[in-house]
Amino acid sequence: MAKDLSIIKGSKTDQYTSLIPQIEGLLQGENNLIANLANISAALKEQFNWWWVGFYWIIEDELVLGPFQGPVACTRIKKGRGVCGSAWEKQETLIVKDVEQFPGHIACSSASKSEIVVPVFKNNQIVGVLDVDSEHLAHFDEIDQQYLEKIIALIPNL
Ligand code: SME
Repeated sequence: MAKDLSIIKGSKTDQYTSLIPQIEGLLQGENNLIANLANISAALKEQFNWWWVGFYWIIEDELVLGPFQGPVACTRIKKGRGVCGSAWEKQETLIVKDVEQFPGHIACSSASKSEIVVPVFKNNQIVGVLDVDSEHLAHFDEIDQQYLEKIIALIPNL
């Protein structure tokens, strides 16, 4: 079945508003977690062309790299380490306007300048994070937080 995304120009809100129903369509009827995380990463990359977008999943005492789009990345992150491990520890979304100002930031790519990390919850327990990196400073704000949290909440069968 053809699944071409409709990619639009416009404000950040316009772009998310166009994308969210399409992501719902991609997830509909599919319960496989890896397939769904892969398509969410790809849809976000296609619409926003961010430097890196993808998931880390909690496996035992580490975050382990999951489906993503972008350059190769670090495979394992400890709790409390970097932006991802801090979002895991705090169980909240972190927006980092300048990664060089974030103590302990893990530079998987030297091109990354700003970042947002959104926790993924299952039955109120954190199970992973969505990580997005930009090559531009201060690329992410509360609008991204609001919509990315909505997108994460659409994932079925966590
Ligand atoms: N920068 C992240 C590591 C993951 S990569 O950016 C893909 C961090 O500090 O947790």
